[in-house]
Amino acid sequence: MKAATFGLLFTLPLALSAHEPTPDPILFYNFTPKHLVLPEPPPAPAEPRATPDEPEEEHAVPPEARLKSQFGPELILGAPPVAEEESARGLRFAEIPTPHRLDAAPDQVATFRPAKEFTVSTWFTLDVPQPYGALYSCIADDGGKEAGMALGYHGTQPAVALATKGADDGDGKLTYLIAKERLTPGLWHHLAATYDGTELRLFMDGRPVASTLEQSGEILWPLDTATWIGGFRDGNENFPHRGRIADVKLFDVCANPGWVAKEFQRGAALRELPGEHPPGVAPAVIVAPYTQWVRGKQATIMWETNFPCKGTLMWGKSPDCATVVEEKKAGLIHQVTLTGLEPEMLYYFKTRVSSPSGSHETGLQTFQTAMKPGSPFGFVVFCDTQANPDKLKRLSEAAWELRPNFVMIGGDLVTTGSDKSHWTDHFFPHMRPLIDSVPFYPVIGNHEQNSMHYYDYVKLPEPEYYYTFKQGDIQFFMLDSNKDLRPGSEQFKWLDRELAASTSLWKICMHHHPPFSSDDDYGNDWKHSLEDMTLGEPATKPIVQLYDKHAVDIVWNGHIHSYERTWMIRHGKPVKKNGTTYLITGGAGGGLESFGPYRPAFQRHVKTGHHFTYVTAFGGHLDMKAYDIEGLLFDHFTFDKKEKAKK
Ligand SMILES: [Fe+2]
Repeated sequence: MKAATFGLLFTLPLALSAHEPTPDPILFYNFTPKHLVLPEPPPAPAEPRATPDEPEEEHAVPPEARLKSQFGPELILGAPPVAEEESARGLRFAEIPTPHRLDAAPDQVATFRPAKEFTVSTWFTLDVPQPYGALYSCIADDGGKEAGMALGYHGTQPAVALATKGADDGDGKLTYLIAKERLTPGLWHHLAATYDGTELRLFMDGRPVASTLEQSGEILWPLDTATWIGGFRDGNENFPHRGRIADVKLFDVCANPGWVAKEFQRGAALRELPGEHPPGVAPAVIVAPYTQWVRGKQATIMWETNFPCKGTLMWGKSPDCATVVEEKKAGLIHQVTLTGLEPEMLYYFKTRVSSPSGSHETGLQTFQTAMKPGSPFGFVVFCDTQANPDKLKRLSEAAWELRPNFVMIGGDLVTTGSDKSHWTDHFFPHMRPLIDSVPFYPVIGNHEQNSMHYYDYVKLPEPEYYYTFKQGDIQFFMLDSNKDLRPGSEQFKWLDRELAASTSLWKICMHHHPPFSSDDDYGNDWKHSLEDMTLGEPATKPIVQLYDKHAVDIVWNGHIHSYERTWMIRHGKPVKKNGTTYLITGGAGGGLESFGPYRPAFQRHVKTGHHFTYVTAFGGHLDMKAYDIEGLLFDHFTFDKKEKAKK
């Protein structure tokens, strides 16, 4: 094993290696920037300048500061860290022209670079995302020449780059392994990368988030590149890190995931610290304000900012928004719930975020409170919006022209629920202008992956994956068909109880997967025999008995990217009255699907193409229209039922 030349050797008591027997680990480098060594003041010129046109620069001594590391060489800084109160949480680096170079002679540099396997670990905060960000880098990515290693971020996504001799294409080949997860500017994060000679793995906050087998064998280090802490720099790129750094550690062995988790736990208190206002970063809104959980006398306004801060909501019944609510805690996703509102009332609102570097105020928006029983209203239904923003934008603009009171969304709001960008870049901006003014009531699809992002962005009563609400004379029952719907399950028992207790004139249920579908996803195609047809999602079939038992009027589904309306169904058979209509409205963005060659008895109307549905309801009259992306009406039906006698 290669010995470290600089500083002290440090043997960890933990089982560090992924291999057996565990070699003695060597900490190659540990940068903990607690000890700033300020430069000597530049010497004063001995005599006044002889001539006034003599360049002053000749006498200037470039300021140079150094940071002592715990083990290994010091850092040479292009400029000192931002002057802030000294903190054990690491120093803040901002507006520094170059990253921080390890102070070592070229012939010494190789002695603290791992040869065939490594672990690199760091705690840091990010003020400003960059296309190439690094906390540790010794890398060359200049044209075809590719070599070295870097741990950092791509925008706000954790990233590690590595070139090895096993993947060398003649002048080196780098793999950039980028996680789908996102770093939150202003908050502390732990990143680690490990490589065992075969597999490169990336960890964020103690958890594995990406891996690749593209690289193998010894690391291919660049010959003429320095090693940098707090920045990505090679022959033609220079991206100094802007944010805090608490430590950067480099080992010459591959740690196992358990070690990474423990290293994260060691600093886990940092994760709990409140977010900071990054100096020089103007506050901005990542997700514009939208309305959630409009019910009874309450409504919730939510929005997301580019770094954690306290938000302010200004609201009222007139556009001057005279009532001001300040959030008590700083956060990234802001949530202000208003109570004691008047029903069927229009309210105006604006939001503001402030930091020492400025403030940002959003434009005037409105929301309307819930409709009382007996009042007429309208709503639209979207399902499977997914990653087709252009289609979704056209549909949401068309839907807003109809001025609905709210939107129902039948799951698969995004293509990849764990990918934050799918929420911030696809779903939210392209649901506007619709969700600028009306709330959306969603259910979870399979593409949400039950991810935390879904639960972060929606405001619904616990446990959030099933809930019920009323608007006018309709009670809605929202379910998660990714979870158990069989008799005895939590959702089955809840729905049975809630439907039995409902006194609303209309009962509408929604879940993502359809119990009745003639789509070829369910074996109804040219390649399967009749026995293979399920004609709907088998996992949802058990819940149908509750729709029969409690005379549910409509069951709304998505998942299949097309439109299908059934006849009324009761006990699995089409009926002319006293049945439940099943509607698949899965055409709000996702790639289109097709039907099989066989028309089942339940099928009433099908249509392939992007679309949404629009419902108006007034007492015992319910009217539904389906529009395609060109705005053409392609289905229309009505329901009428006797209204209950008014007391
Ligand atoms: Fe789906």
